Amino acid sequence: VVLVVDFGAQYAQLIARRVREARVYSEIVPSTMPVAEMLARNPRAIILSGGPSSVYEEGAPRLDRALFEAGVPVFGMCYGFQLMAVTLGGTVDNTGAREYGRTPLHVSRSGSTLFEGTPDEQSVWMSHGDACSAAPDGFAVTASTDVVPVAAFENDEKKLYGVQYHPEVMHSTHGQQILEHFLYRGAGIEPSWTTGNVIEEQVAAIREQVGDKRAICGLSGGVDSAVAAALVQRAIGSQLTCVYVDHGLMRKGETEQVEKDFVAATGVQLKVVDAQERFLTALAGVTDPEEKRKIIGREFIRVFEQAQAEIIAEASGDQPVEFLVQGTLYPDVVESGGGTGTANIKSHHNVGGLPEDLEFKLIEPLRKLFKDEVRMVGQELGLPEEIVQRQPFPGPGLGIRIVGEVTKERLDLLREADAIAREELTAAGLDREIWQCPVVLLADVRSVGVQGDGRTYGHPIVLRPVSSEDAMTADWTRMPYDVLARISTRITNEVKDVNRVVLDVTSKPPGTIEWE
Ligand code: XMP
Repeated sequence: VVLVVDFGAQYAQLIARRVREARVYSEIVPSTMPVAEMLARNPRAIILSGGPSSVYEEGAPRLDRALFEAGVPVFGMCYGFQLMAVTLGGTVDNTGAREYGRTPLHVSRSGSTLFEGTPDEQSVWMSHGDACSAAPDGFAVTASTDVVPVAAFENDEKKLYGVQYHPEVMHSTHGQQILEHFLYRGAGIEPSWTTGNVIEEQVAAIREQVGDKRAICGLSGGVDSAVAAALVQRAIGSQLTCVYVDHGLMRKGETEQVEKDFVAATGVQLKVVDAQERFLTALAGVTDPEEKRKIIGREFIRVFEQAQAEIIAEASGDQPVEFLVQGTLYPDVVESGGGTGTANIKSHHNVGGLPEDLEFKLIEPLRKLFKDEVRMVGQELGLPEEIVQRQPFPGPGLGIRIVGEVTKERLDLLREADAIAREELTAAGLDREIWQCPVVLLADVRSVGVQGDGRTYGHPIVLRPVSSEDAMTADWTRMPYDVLARISTRITNEVKDVNRVVLDVTSKPPGTIEWE
């Protein structure tokens, strides 16, 4: 394992992903973990991430010097670089020379392990106030910028490396190459980690864990629960039952996709619960977004509990249901373990998920994986492309894409508009470029229009195409006007009561991706 030491902000996750893209397994650990504990995990290499602190700030995270003396290769980035510098006797000062954003880097030593084979001039992503003015003894300075004399250094003998910038972000043009040089050349690691290994490992672990007991899994139609279920199905076959709650807030064709395609691809035993009426009744008259979310979450749990009682009843005499499968991903694990008290912007709920007081042992076969890795696993398990490549869709479904009260008529209308948008985006080949495109019905807004010879007084539909890497931040997608035009024409022509289509051009922050 390669350990990525997290000094805050969101850099560590991105670094861990980049390491895995280099086919080396990585895990994130907090910077508060004692060095002895890190070393006890026998890491092949350690990477120190960037972070928001200044090394001279009171209470800024520190590192025990022992980390650099254990013979384990270390790569410091940004804050990690500065920390390495000060810990080993170099100089970092607050020169007032700040660098933010894209910066030209002058590589000054071509014999360098990190920079070999990369150009003398390259563009890198900087974000720092303090700067390193002298490298520690025994280190060679390998790059500088117009502002910073020491922008990279290395001690090849001790296998210690550092760069002032962020090689993990896309704007650093040779970042991935430099990271790979550290891993393969500096640390001597062979790239061998693949999602194929993950499947084998997990199948064996799940068999061992479950034995001859039974498990259930809530399917939401989303990628994570589908892949988790398929993986567990491969391990324990008919000892697994999947439950799919049709709450009527799904998009067009989604329930059928789960009922037919997913079952055909995996052979899983599926119990479909039709709870549309129940959800509509519970949502009647409710317009507040948080209240909607809470109601949907609560009803979901109730329906699931009933279904589970039935499954248990059906299985009586046989083995009781002892395990629950959840599609928890690595970012959820890292974020919930962070304990830094991030603000609750929206009460997210995972429809594949369940309340804590249920007495189940959890199986979480994806808890070490990032989303793109989950997709690869799904592909290897033979799941249909439409499920594996699905855009993220919120647990509360279309219920939070209707601004105003949720009714059957409005859901049907939104389903039509959404299906048109999805069809056109797919036809235009934009599915990969667009992270997701919520289609939102402003049910409480009306505007005047003219259609045929008559005046109309209808509702607007909002298109919200966003580009993102992880949904934590997002930008609105600059998509071609002709595609927008086609979607707009079709929606206003084909969807009753809609006479206007508008485009949301807000990034996140300040807007969130969903409207509620
Ligand atoms: P926001 O709107 O917070 O959304 O910018 C970020 C990402 O999360 C999805 N989302 C949810 N996913 N349960 C989920 O499983 C939820 O309650 C939920 N709310 C938002 C949203 O679609 C986007 O991808």
